[in-house]
Amino acid sequence: MKDTEKLIDFTRQGETLELSQIKDSNKKMYIESYGCQMNFSDSEIVASILTKEGFSTTPNIEDADVVFVNTCSIREKAEQTVRNRLKVYNAIKKKQNPKMLVGVLGCMAERLKDKFLEEEKLVDIVVGPDAYRDLPNLIDEVHDGRKAVNVILSKEETYAEISPVRLGGNGITAFVSITRGCDNMCSFCVVPFTRGRERSRDPKSIVDECKQLVVDGYKEVTLLGQNVDSYLWYGGGPKKDFGKLSQEEQDKSINFAELLAMVAEVSTSLRVRFSTSHPKDMQDDVLYTIAKYENICNYIHLPVQSGNSRILKLMNRGYTREWYLNRIEAIRKIIPDCGISMDIISGFCTETEEDHKDTLSLMEAVKYDFGYMFSYSERPNTQAQRKLNDDVSKETKKRRLQEIIDLQMKHAFIRNKEQVGKIHKVLIEGVSKKSKEELFGRNSQNTVIVFPREHYKPGDYVLVNVEDCTSATLKGKVTKII
Ligand code: 5AD
Ligand code: SF4
Repeated sequence: MKDTEKLIDFTRQGETLELSQIKDSNKKMYIESYGCQMNFSDSEIVASILTKEGFSTTPNIEDADVVFVNTCSIREKAEQTVRNRLKVYNAIKKKQNPKMLVGVLGCMAERLKDKFLEEEKLVDIVVGPDAYRDLPNLIDEVHDGRKAVNVILSKEETYAEISPVRLGGNGITAFVSITRGCDNMCSFCVVPFTRGRERSRDPKSIVDECKQLVVDGYKEVTLLGQNVDSYLWYGGGPKKDFGKLSQEEQDKSINFAELLAMVAEVSTSLRVRFSTSHPKDMQDDVLYTIAKYENICNYIHLPVQSGNSRILKLMNRGYTREWYLNRIEAIRKIIPDCGISMDIISGFCTETEEDHKDTLSLMEAVKYDFGYMFSYSERPNTQAQRKLNDDVSKETKKRRLQEIIDLQMKHAFIRNKEQVGKIHKVLIEGVSKKSKEELFGRNSQNTVIVFPREHYKPGDYVLVNVEDCTSATLKGKVTKII
């Protein structure tokens, strides 16, 4: 029996609650997020929009009037995780909380649209990433078994002036989104279809949000975008329309390097990170800005995807192996102690053993500090799905992925060993998962450092002398609070 069939058995229909009923009470929302940091950031926008409507957040799904799941479509496995979660919601709705409405947000909502309602009878509301402002109306529409859908993508929406309600955070680090959508059309990727055209957010609203975070006691921001290097503010609208402007108007625009400097100048006590960079767009001006400001972290996440130029072309990545290695050289020259991480996909269409070896040799050349590694998962309607053959067997993808992971573990250990005996400035983020007697934080290069708690507390900046390491963590002792 297919999962969807099983779900239909479980589903109770016609038990949805009218908003007028909810409005009388203390309305509660429960939000669960999957996938990229952008989704977690978007959930905070959703929480903000509904807080204005009188909702409060609850950590208990059993108490919620509305349950939202913010979804990811990037790989098939991510979608399966959401489907499994919906089964759990179904059981909770049946046994503990018959009144709850279920809303699906994010990329899966956008990809499947009203098909979602056919496939998952439990779902009441389907909302794409650009339609969150419509949530109050959509909730209102859902009654007497009626369902509500808004998956309209926008060329302008950036939720610029909405102050996110920080969810489940540590009060120290926060995400701030700077662009939405993606125009890159990597052939394997579903994101341009689920998140629409690329657009940049007004720098003033970004800086204002960062200033407010400082007032609220935050010590670190991560600027988020699918391709932050391509940030370009010229008054709003899609990135693609920039070329239509006059020279004078173009000259007044603000690019990513300029935005980074503006955020760095908000406060010297506010650390600045960003993600994700794209190798084809990463210019030296960004590197010089990172080198100039002490509070911009020396860390770049630079997904390579493959070390072979033929595969990169099929992936439509817009750069070659040589171009990528030239960007790495520029980083090493301009920011000598920069941490570098990657994303790699194993077993993309037509990848041969030789092509795979090129990926391993590129990894040897760079020796990344961290990595996020995946095997290729064909996604519906992408260029790769339409034009290429997913012809690398599951076993081969898996074996190649394991080789990539093993090599990355080796490199991370080498990189971490280089840090033993050195002093690192660490922003303390919380108590270590392994021991209550230890705290953890990250250095500028984004490596996690664990050390004895003593009298230090989350939010402090400390200098830590690194004494030992694993491939994942540095261990040390605090020498000084700063
Ligand atoms: N299959 C496997 N990995 C993918 N990614 C994006 N699309 C796919 C896919 N279809 C990976 C890329 C990207 C990261 C966010 O997810 O490495 O950089
Ligand atoms: Fe997907 Fe490529 Fe855009 Fe990243 S840059 S979101 S991989 S299309």
